[in-house]
Amino acid sequence: MSEDIILEGRGLRKEFGGLVAVATVNIRVRRGDLHSIIGPNGAGKTTLFNLLTGNLRPTRGQVLFRGEDITATPLHRRVHLGLGRSFQVTNIFPNLTVLENVRLAAQALGRDSFKVWWHYRHFKSYSDAATGALEQVGLSDKAAVPAAILPHGDQRKLEMAILLASDAEVLLLDEPTAGMATEQVPALMEMIQRIRREGHKTIMLVEHNMNVVMNASDRITVMHQGEVLAEGTPAEITRNETVQKAYLGELYGDFADLVQGAES
Ligand SMILES: Nc1ncnc2c1ncn2[C@@H]1O[C@H](COP(=O)(O)OP(=O)(O)OP(=O)(O)O)[C@@H](O)[C@H]1O
Ligand SMILES: [Mg+2]
Repeated sequence: MSEDIILEGRGLRKEFGGLVAVATVNIRVRRGDLHSIIGPNGAGKTTLFNLLTGNLRPTRGQVLFRGEDITATPLHRRVHLGLGRSFQVTNIFPNLTVLENVRLAAQALGRDSFKVWWHYRHFKSYSDAATGALEQVGLSDKAAVPAAILPHGDQRKLEMAILLASDAEVLLLDEPTAGMATEQVPALMEMIQRIRREGHKTIMLVEHNMNVVMNASDRITVMHQGEVLAEGTPAEITRNETVQKAYLGELYGDFADLVQGAES
């Protein structure tokens, strides 16, 4: 088997009381891929992310990271292993500057945070990591600005910088374009793709914007009522009759023409 699987969910299930949010999900994410999860509201996408990152414990099933079973590994340890996550509501400290916010994240989440944190050299390395992350997202010119006064689009960039500063290899992004002006979306996606390429990251994306999903993804997992309905390349998903009939057609309209140059 030549596939390099960095993150895997095996038979993942999550029940909330009587409600089955994630039924029995098997998912394999290849290293370096941009792997999207799509599906209607309530399909279980965010819950699946929470199971993979450790925000939630599965009722059943396993999570494997780089081939190791991390099902029992707590959230903060997973971050240290290199599994990062951006949140819909980020812990941005409004009164701190943009740079201070990112540096704090680097210190708190960085894989080196168990080392002697008070040492100047480490402090400097966190500052450097923060400065580098701000450069990557194009926020360098706002480093000294209080986070509170950033416009919405820049707050999204700050969230990405915070995630980057943690130096995670796998980034899970839950609806990064939500609430964003349409004209800002391409720039955000270009940034995500550049970060993936240059930083050798693997990216998991939950996204409702089909234009974004069909053009940016290597693979797509379609979820429906807690189950995986289909998995494949954008072209395969577009052609998949079950997906079309089950809900994509009605939910997202005729999205086939959105696929540009996707191969099977
Ligand atoms: N903490 C919780 N307690 C109880 N039920 C929950 C909890 N989190 C999610 N659910 C339920 O689990 C199901 C799946 O929710 P989830 O948030 O994973 O869906 P989603 O695919 O992310 O939806 P959306 O596209 O709206 O974000 C829903 O029925 C939701 O109400
Ligand atoms: Mg969700």
